[in-house]
Amino acid sequence: MKTEDKALLRVLAGEALDPPPAWMMRQAGRYLPEYRATRAKAGSFLDLCYTPELAAEVTLQPIRRYGFDAAILFADILLVPQALGADLWFVEGEGPRLSTLTDAAGLAALRPVSALDETLAPIYETVRSLRGALPAETALIGFAGAPWTVATYMIAGRGTKDHAPARAVRYRDPVVFDGLMARLTEATTHYLLQQIDAGAEVVMLFDSWSGALPGPLFQRYATQPAAEIVTAIREKHPGFPVIGFPRQGGEKLPAFIAETGVSACAIDSGVDPVWAAEVLQPVACVQGNLDPTLMVAGGAALEDGVRALRRIFAGGPYIFNLGHGITPEADPRNVTRMLEALRA
Ligand code: CP3
Repeated sequence: MKTEDKALLRVLAGEALDPPPAWMMRQAGRYLPEYRATRAKAGSFLDLCYTPELAAEVTLQPIRRYGFDAAILFADILLVPQALGADLWFVEGEGPRLSTLTDAAGLAALRPVSALDETLAPIYETVRSLRGALPAETALIGFAGAPWTVATYMIAGRGTKDHAPARAVRYRDPVVFDGLMARLTEATTHYLLQQIDAGAEVVMLFDSWSGALPGPLFQRYATQPAAEIVTAIREKHPGFPVIGFPRQGGEKLPAFIAETGVSACAIDSGVDPVWAAEVLQPVACVQGNLDPTLMVAGGAALEDGVRALRRIFAGGPYIFNLGHGITPEADPRNVTRMLEALRA
């Protein structure tokens, strides 16, 4: 099958398909026993990310089990800061930890973008091997974290509830903050272009914490970097499909789509799907936004939720997905129920 005939690529080019193509954020993850087994074999989460054979294996696991329309490269948004020189480690049951960057000395110590591939080459190798291993109808999605979301981790050294440390650096020292954002925008562009050269057919930009940007700063630190990245990708690959995910962007989503030119906008579960179908779908493909908790709860609420989304978005280009990643507590059987309800 040619790339452009795959269901995911067709909706990204503006076609409406019913039933729509489907995949899930974090579809390769701890809710799957086969993921936990491969992760144990790798030793650590980072070893799993940097071992192409094992990273490709966990990417393929949800495709084999469920037949999703897309596979997403198995890696993490925090590999880019690591490649720029930050220390990165994961605390079991808690999450990521990084060395912190809060001043001009920290910014000056970062490695240049030309050094990224010394660390990230195994990721491109995973992409290359996936292109050979995926079923003909399955699209391959590459991804990166958006500059603001990655900056929140680099500044605070960990996930924070309100991302106040990153905003405080922006207010106190805008020169350092803008320097970091510029480096991350350049690094993200390079990283995504390398994934595309290795065989990614779509790329997704995760701005998980864009909702923490106050209104006046959203355009500058969520929309503008995304626009620069989309433009740079399309200079080399005209029309290349990009999915933006400015999570909790709410009423700023229409301007985000207009100013970035993303092919699709992923929406979190807080966005009213009826509003999204009316306002966003005429200008971009929409992806989302089933509440991930339904993958834990299951039952009639899950089936009703799936059917409602299919109905609401049937008139335009749409990718079925959750509003955020599936959680470790999810029941793998609920994924089967979700896909049955969607395709019935
Ligand atoms: O979606 C996929 O299946 C592809 C792989 C993927 C992972 N992380 C694997 C992962 C993707 C696309 C990500 C993106 C990511 N990573 C984001 C943006 C999306 C989002 O969820 O908002 C963020 C903020 C991160 C940073 C990160 N990585 C955190 C905060 C954590 C710890 C929290 C947690 O869920 O454990 C991770 C670890 C991580 N990344 C895991 C996986 C499968 C769990 C690691 C493990 O196996 O223990």
